[in-house]
Amino acid sequence: MRITPSILNADLANLAAEVARVPSADAMHIDVMDNHFVPNLTIGLPVVESLRAATEKMLDIHLMIENVDQWAPKYAEAGAESVTFHVEASNAPIRLARELRKLGARAAMALKPATSIEPYADMLGELDMVLLMTVEPGFGGQAFLDLVLPKIKRTRELLGSRPIWLQVDGGVSLDTIERCAEAGADTFVAGSAVYNAEDPDAMVVAMRNAALAVKH
Ligand code: DX5
Ligand code: ZN
Repeated sequence: MRITPSILNADLANLAAEVARVPSADAMHIDVMDNHFVPNLTIGLPVVESLRAATEKMLDIHLMIENVDQWAPKYAEAGAESVTFHVEASNAPIRLARELRKLGARAAMALKPATSIEPYADMLGELDMVLLMTVEPGFGGQAFLDLVLPKIKRTRELLGSRPIWLQVDGGVSLDTIERCAEAGADTFVAGSAVYNAEDPDAMVVAMRNAALAVKH
């Protein structure tokens, strides 16, 4: 069970310090938005390159951008350990996943809430992680969409016991993490839940314990 805090709701003027506030995190989840794929603009490659130099922590890059086939490899080249592209934005997801792996990164594919996993069942072996959005991508602090739970279960069935991580992102908190873990998620993005907490690192630990307490 891995907790990957999203810096979207952190103080973006003090990124390195915000990363240092959550030493218990398994990775830092970095939301890259281009104001085209989603109606919001955040940070891009130069900031990720600076962050790479500032922390040893695993960087989990979530690309919510168009032209992702062109841009995603650059994040792997910048030293990110995991690069996630949206399948809705990729023209060639298999080729892209192979390219990311070749560059030494973990290849991950994200699905918006209304995108079905079924068309991608046969290509899951090309991936190191599947990210299921549990809100419409674009903003932190939105309410968790329970309607995604059946897709989490179905994706877990399709993955079986393969060592492919199943990540959920959006509205994940102490209130919703158990539902996600029960459905089969093992990697949890948490933005506002962590950074709005009085003690962000204690929240990371509490969320991991809540996920671990779920029996399968
Ligand atoms: C939303 C981003 C999320 C966001 C999650 O599009 O992909 O990673 O930061 O924020 P919370 O946990 O507040 O929903
Ligand atoms: Zn994200």
